[in-house]
Amino acid sequence: MPQIAKRVMPFGTTIFTEINQLAAQYNAVNLGQGKPDFDGPPEAVQAFIDALQQGGHNQYAPGPGAPAARQGVANHAEKHYGLTVDPDQGVVMTPGATEAVFASIMGLVDAGDEVIIIQPFFDSYVPGVLMAGATPVFVSLHAPDWTFDEAELRAAFNERTRAIIINTPHNPTGRVFTREELALIAELCQQYDVTVISDEVYEHLVFGDNVHIPIATLPGMFERTVTIGSAGKTFGMTGWKIGWAYGDTALIKGVWSAHQYIAFATNHPAQLAVAHAFKLGDDYYANYRAVYEGKRQRIMAALDGAGISYTAPQGTYFVMGDFSAVFDGDDIAFSRYAVAEIGVAVIPPTTFYHAAHRHLGQNHVRFSFAKHDEQIDEAARRLARLKQ
Ligand SMILES: Cc1ncc(COP(=O)(O)O)c(C=O)c1O
Repeated sequence: MPQIAKRVMPFGTTIFTEINQLAAQYNAVNLGQGKPDFDGPPEAVQAFIDALQQGGHNQYAPGPGAPAARQGVANHAEKHYGLTVDPDQGVVMTPGATEAVFASIMGLVDAGDEVIIIQPFFDSYVPGVLMAGATPVFVSLHAPDWTFDEAELRAAFNERTRAIIINTPHNPTGRVFTREELALIAELCQQYDVTVISDEVYEHLVFGDNVHIPIATLPGMFERTVTIGSAGKTFGMTGWKIGWAYGDTALIKGVWSAHQYIAFATNHPAQLAVAHAFKLGDDYYANYRAVYEGKRQRIMAALDGAGISYTAPQGTYFVMGDFSAVFDGDDIAFSRYAVAEIGVAVIPPTTFYHAAHRHLGQNHVRFSFAKHDEQIDEAARRLARLKQ
């Protein structure tokens, strides 16, 4: 009998597929997947339509990306972070940040290398590292403030370490790494000659006094960092699946070499729409942040009303809630109970940990607030029953 490859046998179904199915079955308010239930800027939608209708963009885009989109990425990095990025050889446009992460691992890590992953992690990192034949090494963020321990981080680095994957603002905890935390990572990367794959898809979703700092802006780091972004997050269009990787041309060569045999090219009209979106003024980002600040306040009020404790998210559209005061059981049991009995779908985060460290997340679930205000308020009404 033909069989699937051993490489993918352990992967199973992603937790998002499972929760989405349960949410539909129980007609639950879905605060699970990080997928807005509203669209991004209408001007970008119009630019997509124009690109479709103009002709000339319904065929393959150049492999590394449509020139206007690559220029948009380079201009954005220069404008927001003062980084000089070569739009021709320092940027690759990809089908989502997911492929940018995968192509970065494939293009920059060899079989037998070690790759440090901070947990809880975005779920595609570990399969990517395993498919490259490399070994993941885990460093944990610890509740309630979701910081890492310096000694634990130092202990993860050694001569076999080839890369570290970091994510700030961080999904699922909502942490935004400080300059001090990033400086420590940078110091170790320089000491051990390690490449950074920096997933910054939530770069524009930071709240209050928190500031997003790309690690590539730290001294000596641009040349060892590939930075990843997503139009799904920056422009609120997850369905377009447009992402990008940028950095020093020597590293991007590796990313592009892998990308050309994974996807070859990326959706052409969608890239032109993203190029258009990159030209939106500063008020776009200010408004985007303000909309999510309102939703963040709403979800925090909902959790207060339900007796769920949390550390206020500094960034992203996620918050980790500790349900141990209102429920006796682990995160999987709580998620099943919440979707079936309370009518609210959430994500159990233990799937974002290595099996040996799942206990670190088992009192928490992840709530997404990328939802209509009415949905968050309805979830609040339902969740209040937890306290009764
Ligand atoms: C941290 C992180 N990285 C990458 C992605 C994937 O982005 P894309 O939809 O552009 O592939 C997500 C999506 O939720 C994410 O949260």
